[in-house]
Amino acid sequence: MSRELTNERAFLSDDGVAPGEPLIELRNIYKIYYMGGEEVHANDGISLTINKGEFVAIVGKSGSGKSTLMNIIGALDVPTFGEYFLAGEDTSEMTDDELSEVRNNRIGFIFQQYNLLMKLNLLENVELPLLYKGYGKKEREEKAMEALKRVGLDEKWKSTPLQLSGGQQQRLSIARALCARPSIILADEPTGALDSRTSKDVLGLITELNKEGNTIVMITHDPSIAMYSKRVVEIMDGRIIFDGDVKAYADHRKLQNGN
Ligand SMILES: Nc1ncnc2c1ncn2[C@@H]1O[C@H](COP(=O)(O)OP(=O)(O)OP(=O)(O)O)[C@@H](O)[C@H]1O
Ligand SMILES: [Mg+2]
Repeated sequence: MSRELTNERAFLSDDGVAPGEPLIELRNIYKIYYMGGEEVHANDGISLTINKGEFVAIVGKSGSGKSTLMNIIGALDVPTFGEYFLAGEDTSEMTDDELSEVRNNRIGFIFQQYNLLMKLNLLENVELPLLYKGYGKKEREEKAMEALKRVGLDEKWKSTPLQLSGGQQQRLSIARALCARPSIILADEPTGALDSRTSKDVLGLITELNKEGNTIVMITHDPSIAMYSKRVVEIMDGRIIFDGDVKAYADHRKLQNGN
């Protein structure tokens, strides 16, 4: 598969899938936990196709199965039953090395907790994943600085995360995710720890990344945050109960709320 950059300025690699073609295909996914003799169906028969270049919000109440689904999409976990094709490849047939390649290079993860290293400066935080991948110092620093620039933090590269605001810390974690130029960005409650103004700033950045070609899957329990996406998938008790464009979702919510 070609790993060349499609666009030197965009922070993503070519995954061999044309825009608008299926990139993430989940077929009848079940994730079942066994708890003291009882079955918990965290995902209960989810079928979902996300095309390259989409910006999808996955919404649902606490415990509905959103993070479980994200962990499967991110190849951090495997379904109990069902199939997951990524860029046309059956993930169940991938070797451990291939799966870690997916996690390290093809997907950028953004979490509510940024998992930053508070004793390292911004550049070192962003560089770290590249160090693990065996890049040399010069290339690491160049790539990390480019990513910091992309999120508007390059001038602060010597600071430590503690000297940043919450929104800046989240932008730093986005820079770290972008370093490997992932084609897909998975964000689990990316604004969960932020106030509304700072949330807008981070959502603006995620929207820009989508415009530049990244496929975005963003999990949120907050319907107003879902409005930044283009397509909304609502989950309840591990099942999809709504899947439509963001305008249809807004209408669906109005109906639900009776106004
Ligand atoms: N490792 C586990 N063992 C047992 N049950 C689990 C495990 N992980 C998740 N669950 C259960 O699966 C269901 C879905 O959990 P999940 O974390 O996917 O929900 P969520 O939609 O992300 O919730 P939240 O909005 O609170 O983050 C819950 O009932 C949860 O208790
Ligand atoms: Mg969750």
